[in-house]
Amino acid sequence: MQIYIEKDYNDLSKKASKIIADFIKKNPKCVLGLATGSTPQKTYDLLGKMRKINKTSFKNIKTFNLDEYSGLSANNPQSYHFFMKQNFFDKTDIDIKNTFFPTDFAPDYKKYDEKIKKSGGINLQILGIGSNGHIGFNEPGSKFFSKTRQVKLSKNTIKDNARFFKNKKDVPTKAVTMGIGTIMSAKKIILLASGKNKSKAVFNALCKKVSTKTPASILQSHKDVIVILDKDSAENLSG
Ligand code: GLP
Repeated sequence: MQIYIEKDYNDLSKKASKIIADFIKKNPKCVLGLATGSTPQKTYDLLGKMRKINKTSFKNIKTFNLDEYSGLSANNPQSYHFFMKQNFFDKTDIDIKNTFFPTDFAPDYKKYDEKIKKSGGINLQILGIGSNGHIGFNEPGSKFFSKTRQVKLSKNTIKDNARFFKNKKDVPTKAVTMGIGTIMSAKKIILLASGKNKSKAVFNALCKKVSTKTPASILQSHKDVIVILDKDSAENLSG
């Protein structure tokens, strides 16, 4: 595991976008796993700009999103479909036909894992982390070998995600997520975390024993993980 601690969110986003752009340049037909949330937002923005600055092309890549809320249509501004279109896809030359979301495979989510496999597997998975240590929407207690499935969101996650919705009652309580097994099959993983509210989850994920109580802790057993933190999220790591 390689760990970078950057000064702040901006530097974290620069570092992440550079690593991802270099990867795409070397592997122009790669398969990416994508996360949503506020953490990767600037990374996506910078990647979009790189298209112009250093001619990074996304034309031949395929993308699989980590998760999506159940019950929100793709054109709902709170959906992850909408987020990706607005924050990433529209800023690149990506072929929208090559972008996939787990909810599009309802109700047979096994087909999402099969589709990933048929595409050659995920070469680079981008991940954020929930304040309770979740990855994707794999909440504490999720099985490490789990595959793509529909899950109930924890109270903690519903509370965290309420900031994106006008009314509390509109926050979805269910979602479809790649499983931890699906995520761990990615050949390379980049985990991003920013802000003091993530420092406990980061500490539990990186420094404590691997446990289903902190789903992200399983990343300790993956052979190719890059962690990019800002100082705030790394405040509990010493040395
Ligand atoms: C959601 C997503 C996760 C994401 C997490 C953190 O729960 N399903 O994939 O990592 O939020 O989001 P943020 O980056 O906004 O803190």
